[in-house]
Amino acid sequence: MADVSLKDLRKSYGAVDVIKGVDIDVKDGEFCVFVGPSGCGKSTLLRMIAGLEDITDGTLSIGGRVVNDVTPKDRGVGMVFQSYAIFPHMTVRENIAFGLTIARTSKAEKDAKVQDAARILQMEHLLDRRPSQLSGGQRQRVAIGRAIVRQPNVFLFDEPLSNLDAALRMDMRMEIGKLHRQLGATMIYVTHDQVEAMTLADKIVVLKDGVVMQMGAPMDLYHNPANLFVAGFLGAPSMNFLTVDVLDVQGDQARVAHPALEPVVLHTKGRAITAGTKAVMGLRPQYLTATGTGDGLIEGKVVVAERLGSETVADLVLRDGTNLIATFSEDRVFPPDQVVTLRFDPAQAHLFPHDA
Ligand SMILES: Nc1ncnc2c1ncn2[C@@H]1O[C@H](COP(=O)(O)OP(=O)(O)OP(=O)(O)O)[C@@H](O)[C@H]1O
Ligand SMILES: [Mg+2]
Repeated sequence: MADVSLKDLRKSYGAVDVIKGVDIDVKDGEFCVFVGPSGCGKSTLLRMIAGLEDITDGTLSIGGRVVNDVTPKDRGVGMVFQSYAIFPHMTVRENIAFGLTIARTSKAEKDAKVQDAARILQMEHLLDRRPSQLSGGQRQRVAIGRAIVRQPNVFLFDEPLSNLDAALRMDMRMEIGKLHRQLGATMIYVTHDQVEAMTLADKIVVLKDGVVMQMGAPMDLYHNPANLFVAGFLGAPSMNFLTVDVLDVQGDQARVAHPALEPVVLHTKGRAITAGTKAVMGLRPQYLTATGTGDGLIEGKVVVAERLGSETVADLVLRDGTNLIATFSEDRVFPPDQVVTLRFDPAQAHLFPHDA
């Protein structure tokens, strides 16, 4: 079993605290994705799990065994980095076998494992090439192959696809998903890519400044963000935020007002919303429509509208100067400066305390 458990994990460089008490449980076979802004500590956490960084405080267990002081090679983890770190003078076969060669594995076993990894990664025909004769995606596959032959219980990926172009990223994303299903191994994966996070993860961990902001299934986080940070971080384009006045609160219903909309009643979802204060209303760009009737009308002036063929992204400015992005799943024409009225379903809007 290769569950990974982080208990109050901390990392400091001198007086600088980088990881500030992180608790995460990754189940055996789970695909866990770390996301968060640049510098929040994703790579540091991954390197601590791999054993490439000392743990300042807390407990790290893999498969129920505390591994704080276990050397990297004895942790049963394989790591794949953003820069593929493969050797240009070696063939693909030699590169994939590298860890096994170092460990003085017998030739027969080495050949069998390399062949098996090559089959999984569909690169049997490339084994005798050198890295210079490969595409970027193929090179990254070599790096993954090198991790696979060591048969780790836990795979660690640090932005493995970020050097690839968009089309290749999509192919490789699907291949990594397939690899996970095929191997059934525990995987921890760092990315800046929303689509990778949403599609690959069983569990997403959102980090900020070395602290976990929220973790859970992708759709849970998307639909029930715990705070403004997670609400604004997940989803592209980002959730729109409007500062509203809370007129009154009855039970879990709050009536709010904003210069660009008629007063509307929103669900507080148990959040601490108080009458007579300001709050933040969150509206996903996808949930604004140009048609329909009922509550939830919002008026804005078009700044610019981008027609992408499959969708239209409109950037509006509201009466109080707030910017609002609305996306439509079809081609629409919005002339600049046109004043438009959009509709949203109040049940799909979020309401956060001002300081959440
Ligand atoms: N050797 C070091 N000494 C001091 N601070 C460091 C050291 N290594 C990393 N840090 C700091 O630790 C923080 C976390 O870095 P880390 O590389 O984990 O971020 P990240 O989330 O992976 O960011 P990115 O998305 O840009 O890769 C950063 O603020 C960084 O400056
Ligand atoms: Mg990083």
